[in-house]
Formats: sequence, C-alpha cells, structure tokens
Amino acid sequence: MRPLIIQGALPVECEHLASQLTNVEMETIGGWVFWKGQYQGFPVIISKTRMGMTNSAAATAIAILKYQPCAIINQGTSGGHDPALNVFDLVLGRAVCNIGAFKTPKKALGEGADALAWREAFDMLAEDETDPEPIAIRHFYADPALLAAAQYVRHDYTVGQVVEGIIGSADVWNNELDRIAFFREVYGTVTEEMEGASVAQVAAQFQVPFLAIRVISNNLTNQQAYNAKTGQVCQDFVFKVVQHYFAELSKN
Ligand code: 5AD
Repeated sequence: MRPLIIQGALPVECEHLASQLTNVEMETIGGWVFWKGQYQGFPVIISKTRMGMTNSAAATAIAILKYQPCAIINQGTSGGHDPALNVFDLVLGRAVCNIGAFKTPKKALGEGADALAWREAFDMLAEDETDPEPIAIRHFYADPALLAAAQYVRHDYTVGQVVEGIIGSADVWNNELDRIAFFREVYGTVTEEMEGASVAQVAAQFQVPFLAIRVISNNLTNQQAYNAKTGQVCQDFVFKVVQHYFAELSKN
C-alpha cells in the first residue's frame, strides 16, 4: 500500500500528527522534514512544508518523487473570508485557487497602485504554454474520494461546523476587508491560507489525488482573533478522514 501524505506548514500544524504515528522514522531532505510511519496500521507520512507557496511546492514535489504517495492532504489554519464562519469551523476544500497571481492594469509613474483594480488573474497552468499572459482563475478541484471520506466523517467533528468551500492561497496575509470581499465575490473563497493552491498545482502535474482541509483560526470579517488551538483539532479531524479513506481503499 502506498503512503498518504499529510502536510502542515508550521510545527503547530503537524507535530501533533507526527507524535501519533507508530514505527516512525524522521527524514530531512533539504530543509523539509518528513515523518514516515503508520496510523492505525496504514502507511502515513507527515510533511512539514514550512510556510508559503514556494516551500509547499518544493515539499510536495520532493514527497511525490521520493515516496510515491496514493494521495496528499494539505491541512492547517486559515483566515475566514465569510463572516458566517467562526473560529474552529472546518472548510473542506471543494477547490483551491491561487489568489496571488495577477496581471495589473497599466499606470504611469506617479499614478500610484490600486490592488482592488487587479482583476485579471494569471493562470499558472494554462493549456496554451505559448501564451505569456494566460488570464483565467484556475480552480484545482478536490479528489472526489478524498472529499467523500471527509464528508463521511464530518459528524465526528464537534467543536464547530464543517462546510465545503473554495480556499484561496497566496504569499499574502490579507487584512483589507474590501480586498477580502473582492476575493469572496470574484474567486468564491470562504477562507485564505498560504499553501493549498501551490500543493494542488504540483499534485495536478503528477496526477496525485489531493484534498485541502482548513480550520478557521482567525476571521477578520467578523472580528474573530487568531486562536492557535485550532491547529490541533484540525489535525485530529484529518486523521479520521485518513482512516476512513484507507478503510474504503482496502475494500476495493
Ligand atoms: N491569511 C493567510 N494565511 C493564514 N494562515 C492562517 N491564517 C491566515 C490568514 N488570515 C496560515 C498560512 C501560513 C500561516 C501564516 O498560517 O497557511 O502557513
């Protein structure tokens, strides 16, 4: 059986997972740490990607080539774009998208810059590789079997609601409410973080099944402050998803 990879960017987003593996062996490649072991007898690798799009892309490419995973789950904390979501709610990423790639309008020296006018998204995986300006919002959709496993165990999550939605990723922590509203309206995002779309892009290139699961750890749209404890409950939920996914896999 091939291993399933669970990624977390920060120590608070992956050490709780790593501590629950049995027969665990740690491996460091470049600056990226992997804990290889078993969860309930199933092969699982915990990957600490570190923060941001570049780190998470590199950790994903290394993991795919080195460990040939059956699937990848990227999980961790995030900042709500939807005021109906509370800290501790979970978002199952129906899709993830890059909210940091744009072609800006032209402005002359002295005319300033206006991020709300950046309305043309750059598609990093355009079919036409000869087009130097591929303008489109690309959504990377969740693998149906991974998403179904997460939906199946959703009622085991008791400290918040579990919703399905679009997760936006960029090397940016957005604190401008008008900008957040723009992403929500144009990209359909319900929450933001800094890794998921980058991981999904690499996973898509290798055709590895992917799912993002993010807990709301802060939400500026309803004035809810960051709570670091959210990282652990998200990890506990992810293990339930993984267990159910493997149980279904081993039936087939
Ligand atoms: N905006 C962007 N990233 C966030 N993260 C948590 N909340 C937010 C937010 N509001 C996650 C990112 C990154 C780290 C800063 O925490 O994924 O790894």
